[in-house]
Amino acid sequence: MIPLVYDQVNAWGKDDEFFLALLKKSDVKTIADLGCGTGRLTTHFAAANYEVTAIDPNAEAIGVAKGKASSGAVKWIVGDSTDLPANAFDAIIMTANVAQVFLTEESWEAVVADAYRALKPGGHFIFDTRNPLAKVWEEWEKDTTPDLAENPETGEPLEIWTTYDGMADNVFTFYETVKNANTGDIVVREKMELKFRTREAIRDSLEQANFSQVHVYGDWEFEEAEQEAHSFIFHGVK
Ligand SMILES: C[S@@+](CC[C@H](N)C(=O)[O-])C[C@H]1O[C@@H](n2cnc3c(N)ncnc32)[C@H](O)[C@@H]1O
Repeated sequence: MIPLVYDQVNAWGKDDEFFLALLKKSDVKTIADLGCGTGRLTTHFAAANYEVTAIDPNAEAIGVAKGKASSGAVKWIVGDSTDLPANAFDAIIMTANVAQVFLTEESWEAVVADAYRALKPGGHFIFDTRNPLAKVWEEWEKDTTPDLAENPETGEPLEIWTTYDGMADNVFTFYETVKNANTGDIVVREKMELKFRTREAIRDSLEQANFSQVHVYGDWEFEEAEQEAHSFIFHGVK
């Protein structure tokens, strides 16, 4: 996550509409947005009148989020799932594949357990994750052109170059380098690692943590997930 350019290269999409629609269907009031990043979706949750707590370990991202309209109504926390209070939320949501940042089984199981602890009885745990069987990284690796952005502080043009280190132990590693397009100077470079878990492994981890009524949608049309779906959207109930 590079807060400087994140919103410019992650435009609003069908996935974001899906999350808003699923929350509406779930009839919830209090939400924790875990891994909220720059608040891309968080501020829409607040604008929809949910009572929102938003958490992310990236202080720079939270700083960007706090500058947005509707941010004043949100409780922002620089932290992680261990900072979630117990029995406090009707829904905990992790959008844009936050679930894939937890690289070890221990860290993933800890987040699932923390979400369970922080939900009220009957509360909803909702998140998306990419399907390893769809091998989306093979498409990513073909893209050798930079994304373009603008430095919001200076107005200078930026290029975002991605290089790929490949897949090992179901973790895909790549690097993003943001350069000043005029001078070629590196503005920021970040290593990214994403864990790809199977639908069965995730379902098992939710059931182990006592979540019930686990439902898996495929992509963004409220359809049941097929084997070859690009993404899975999990919805479990405490
Ligand atoms: C791809 S971004 C998604 C941001 C946001 N949810 C959205 O929809 O735009 C992944 C986010 O996960 C956050 N993250 C990394 N480690 C985390 C952790 N241990 N707990 C919670 N969030 C974490 C990153 O800082 C980053 O903001």
